[in-house]
Amino acid sequence: MAASVDKTLAEQSVLSAEQVAALFGEVHAEAEADLRGVLNEKQFEEFRNHWLGRKAGVVTKITDNWLKPAPGDLKKAVGQEFNKFKVALEAVIKERRAAIEAGAEEVASAKDRVDLSLPGVVRPLGSRHLIRQVFQEIEDIFFSIGFSVVEGPEIETPYYNFEALNIPEHHPVRDDMDTFYMELPKNAPGQLLLRTHTSPMQIRTMEKQKPPVRVIVPGRVYRRDNPDATHSFAFHQVEGLAVDTDITFCDFTGTIEYFVKQFFGANVKTRFRPSYFPFTEPSVEFDVSCVFCGGSGTTASGTCGKCKGAGWIELFGAGMVDPAVYGFVGYDPKKVSGFAFGIGIDRLAMLKYGIDDIQAFFQNDVRFLKQFP
Ligand code: DAH
Repeated sequence: MAASVDKTLAEQSVLSAEQVAALFGEVHAEAEADLRGVLNEKQFEEFRNHWLGRKAGVVTKITDNWLKPAPGDLKKAVGQEFNKFKVALEAVIKERRAAIEAGAEEVASAKDRVDLSLPGVVRPLGSRHLIRQVFQEIEDIFFSIGFSVVEGPEIETPYYNFEALNIPEHHPVRDDMDTFYMELPKNAPGQLLLRTHTSPMQIRTMEKQKPPVRVIVPGRVYRRDNPDATHSFAFHQVEGLAVDTDITFCDFTGTIEYFVKQFFGANVKTRFRPSYFPFTEPSVEFDVSCVFCGGSGTTASGTCGKCKGAGWIELFGAGMVDPAVYGFVGYDPKKVSGFAFGIGIDRLAMLKYGIDDIQAFFQNDVRFLKQFP
């Protein structure tokens, strides 16, 4: 600018009040031009320093170079113009500052603004897996006749999974059930395996509790099966155990039939067939009339594909607890008797809900899961 705030008025040959006013006019115009380039907080700070900085700001320089050394006859004019200038400067600064703040706010609020006209984020609600739901149905039925629910470890010792259930080391039924063994350090005290059934909880429960015992044990079990429509290396069972001083085979059949009719409906027919399990004597296999063809073995389109024309579907294994088992838990086989059963849940769920591939339970395909909300 023509006006220099580093020089005194005398040095710039400013001698009259008019010249003083013109000089301040220049400074004022300069300040306004400067301010127009101030667009953000940072530039605003720079501007303030340049003009108002305490040590070397323009205002300080004007005080030192123009006002203080001004000759007596100009002092009044300089003082007046200077004051006018300062008031004007303050006003434009204030205005600019407000504009910058408003602008920043506008930008910020545009960022934060919630557009209520946009569709919301839909978070689909989950639901319990069908297997869980079936567990619950079974638990409710057994609750209603005095059973309680216990759960046990999925990693078991061979003792609980086999030996204490009267399945000694070289017993042939182990072949069906041999399973996944843990890899353990060499000095481990014994082997560990993924349980092949929920039956070990019979032993664990009786070890802890004196008769009467009435429990069911829902849980996941594992076997070395190749996956197909009816086999999976992991599946689910509900074990049942009732032991007391006078439990008979009649209590057993009555309980099982009650359960099945509650679960499948009153019209279902039931039958027991002799079978074999090392931990029950006698042992039975329990069948229900085919829920797909009503037990006739035929449907409108010919032979029933589900029971293959038999009219019956095998449901689960059961029996009266073998006295040898009581020996492992310190019960007196002469005083107590009881029954046990092991229900395959996946199979039960498939029958009740018409599912033809067990793998569907493990694939977590939402299209499948959604059918059982
Ligand atoms: N644990 C047997 C299995 O997984 C099923 C079973 C059969 C359980 C008879 C029992 C029972 O409690 O009494 O094949």
